[in-house]
Amino acid sequence: MEKQKHWDKIFNTQCEEILGWFEKDFSQTLKYLQKIEKLENKDVFVSGVGTSKIADILALREGKTVLNDISLEALNILKKRIKGKNVEFFQFDISKPFKKECDVWIDRAVLHFLIEEDEIKNYFESLKQSLRKDGLILFAQYKKGTAEKCASLPLKQYDIEEFNFYLGKAFKLLESETFEFTMPSLDKREFIYALYKKID
Ligand SMILES: C[S@@+](CC[C@H](N)C(=O)[O-])C[C@H]1O[C@@H](n2cnc3c(N)ncnc32)[C@H](O)[C@@H]1O
Repeated sequence: MEKQKHWDKIFNTQCEEILGWFEKDFSQTLKYLQKIEKLENKDVFVSGVGTSKIADILALREGKTVLNDISLEALNILKKRIKGKNVEFFQFDISKPFKKECDVWIDRAVLHFLIEEDEIKNYFESLKQSLRKDGLILFAQYKKGTAEKCASLPLKQYDIEEFNFYLGKAFKLLESETFEFTMPSLDKREFIYALYKKID
C-alpha cells in the first residue's frame, strides 16, 4: 500500500512531461517493438506502464494488451486516453506472484525498483509462468554504474549477467545495447536494453 501511495501521489500531482522517465521521443523503445515479428496479433503484457505513450500504440493492435501498474492514478489517466478494444487495465504490484499469459513482456524502468530478493524472484517466476514458448521480453533498466535512485526510490541496477542469472537457461539473449536517456531535466541516465526469447 505504501508503494502504491508513493506512485499515486506522483501521478496525481505532477504533469507527465516533467517526470524523470518521461519519453517525449520514444523512438528507442519503439525501435525494439518494431523488431518483433507479427506484433499486431501478439498478446502483450506491459509491467508498470505508467502513462507511457507506448501504451497508445500497443492498444491499436488486434492482439491483447495488458497494461499493468501499481498506481490507480496512472491507470486512470490511461483509461481516459486509450480507446483500444482489446485492452485490460491490471492494477497489481508485480513484486507479488501472478500469471497473465502473453507472447511479449515489456518492462521499461519498473523491475529495477524491486530491491528485495524475494520480490525479484517473484517477478521472474511470474514472468516465466506468463510468457508462452517463443515469447519475447524487452527489458530497459538502469544500467550498473548509473544513478542509484529514481522517483526518490533506491533501485537495483542491471547488466546482461544479472538478467541471465534470473532468467536461466530457458531464455536466449537476441540483442542488447546501452542507451543514454536524456531526462526532461536534461540529466543523463544509462539504460541497458535487452531483448530475450523464451526457447524452452
Ligand atoms: C519510472 S516509471 C516507468 C513508467 C513506464 N514504464 C515508462 O517507461 O514510462 C515506473 C512505473 O512503475 C510503476 N511501478 C512501480 N513499482 C511497481 C510495482 N511493484 N508493480 C507495478 N507497477 C509498479 C509506477 O507506478 C510507475 O508507473
